[in-house]
Amino acid sequence: MDKYIITGGSPLKGRVCISGAKNAAVAIIPAAILAGDVCRIENLPNISDVAVIARILQELGAEVTRANASTLIIDPRRINTFIARRELVSNMRASYYLLGALLGRWGKARVPMPGGCYFGIRPIDQHLKGFETLGAVAGVENGMIHLDAERLTGGHIYLDVVSVGATINIVLAAVKARGLTVLENAAREPHIVDLANFLNSMGADISGAGTDVIKIRGVESLRGTTYSIIPDQIEAGTYMAAAVAAGGDVVIENVTPKHLESITLKLRDLGAEIDEYDDSIRVRRTEPIKRTNVKTLPHPGFPTDMQPQISALCAVGSGTSIVTEGVWDNRFQYVDELRKMGVKATVDGKIAIFEGVPKLSGAPVAATDLRAGAAMIIAALMADGVTEIEQIRYIERGYENVVDKLRGLGADIKRISDYKDDAYAQNHA
Ligand code: EPZ
Repeated sequence: MDKYIITGGSPLKGRVCISGAKNAAVAIIPAAILAGDVCRIENLPNISDVAVIARILQELGAEVTRANASTLIIDPRRINTFIARRELVSNMRASYYLLGALLGRWGKARVPMPGGCYFGIRPIDQHLKGFETLGAVAGVENGMIHLDAERLTGGHIYLDVVSVGATINIVLAAVKARGLTVLENAAREPHIVDLANFLNSMGADISGAGTDVIKIRGVESLRGTTYSIIPDQIEAGTYMAAAVAAGGDVVIENVTPKHLESITLKLRDLGAEIDEYDDSIRVRRTEPIKRTNVKTLPHPGFPTDMQPQISALCAVGSGTSIVTEGVWDNRFQYVDELRKMGVKATVDGKIAIFEGVPKLSGAPVAATDLRAGAAMIIAALMADGVTEIEQIRYIERGYENVVDKLRGLGADIKRISDYKDDAYAQNHA
C-alpha cells in the first residue's frame, strides 16, 4: 500500500509554484473534441486525472501526444466514434464532459454514467435538461447515457441549481448549435471562464462566462489553437492552508490572487498574515490559530473543495468553529479520520462543529477522497509525531508532485510503497 509518512512540527519556509488547474484541464481536454484541427494545451497539471482523460480521447480515435510534462498536443480529426468505453470513464466524474463535447461534434453521444468522489447523490438532471432544451433526446440504458439530436438548436436554459458540470456541458453542446443559447443561473468558477476563453480562441462566440448569465452564439466550425490554462485555485488554497497549519513564511507562486479572495479572507480570520502580489501570495503565521465560521458556496463564495482543508485548521483553533457545507449533501466523511488524530468535532448533516484542541497527534489515517486527503496532510503537518496516510491515489489524482513541493518548503514527508522507500517517489514525481 503506497503511503505518505509525515513527521509534523516543522514550520514551512520558501517558495512553491502552483500547477495548472485540474478542474479546467479535465474540461478543456475533452473540449478539443469539438475542434476541426490540432490543439496544443499548455500548463496542464501532471496528475492522473489528466492522463486518464487523455487516454479516453485516444480511445475515441484522437491523436494525443505529450510534448512535455505539462503540454498535450491533441489532433481530434481522426476521432471516429461517439461511444466512450466504460473502463476509463467510470473512474472519474469529469468524464461527463464527453457528453457535451461528443453531442456538439456528432449530434450523438454514448457515455457511461460517471464515477468520482462520493459526496451523497450526484445527479446530472441539469445537464440532461440543458441537452434536451438544445433539441437532444436523452435516455439511460444499461448504465450508458444516450443522447441523440437531429440538429442542435440554441435555447433558453435556467439552471435550478448552480452547477459547474452542467454549465460546462451545456456550453460544450451549444458552441456549434444553430442560433443563440442563453444559460441563466450559471456557475461562475474560474475554470468556466478558462473553458470559454479556450473555446473562443478556437473561434467560438461565448460571452458572459464568470457571470450568472452566459450567451453562446453557435458557429459552423472551430479551428485549432494553442492555449495555456489557468493556475489551480484549490491547489494554491491548499498550500496557503498548509502554511497556516505549520506556521512559517511561504511564497506561493503562479497564482491569480483574485481567484483566492474568499480563501485569503478566511485564513486571515484564522490569524494568518497574507500579502498579495501580481501572480504570487505570501502567507505567514506566527500567532496561535484562531477560530472562525465558514459556509461553502458556489464561486465567488468559499469553495467547497477547500472545506476539508480549512476544517483541519479549525480543529486546532482557539475556540469553537462552525463549518457549513453549502454545496454537497455529505462532505464530512473525512472527520472520522481526523478524530484518530485527536480532533473534537460534532457532525450533523451539512454542519460540523469543531472544538479547537491545543495539539493533534500523529496516527495512521486514510484519504477518503481528493480534498479529504489534502486535509490529512495539513493535519499531519501540525501534529506531534508521525502520521501515515493511506489511499494516496486519491491525492495524486489532483495534486502534482505534492511530496517534492512540500519537501521544498521544509516539510518532513516521504512517499513509501510496497516496492522501495523514497526511490519509488522519485521515479514517479
Ligand atoms: C465540480 O463538480 C468539481 N469537479 C468539484 O470538485 C466541485 O466540488 C464542484 O464542482 C462544486 O464546486 C470538477 O470540476 C471535475 P456541481 P460537479 O455540478 O460539476 C447539484 C474536486 O475536488 N447538481 O457544481 O459535479 C449537486 O448534487 C471536485 O476537484 C444537481 O442537483 O459539481 C451539488 O449539490 C470534487 N443536478 C451541486 O449541484 C445536476 O445536474 C453542485 O454540483 C448537477 C449538480
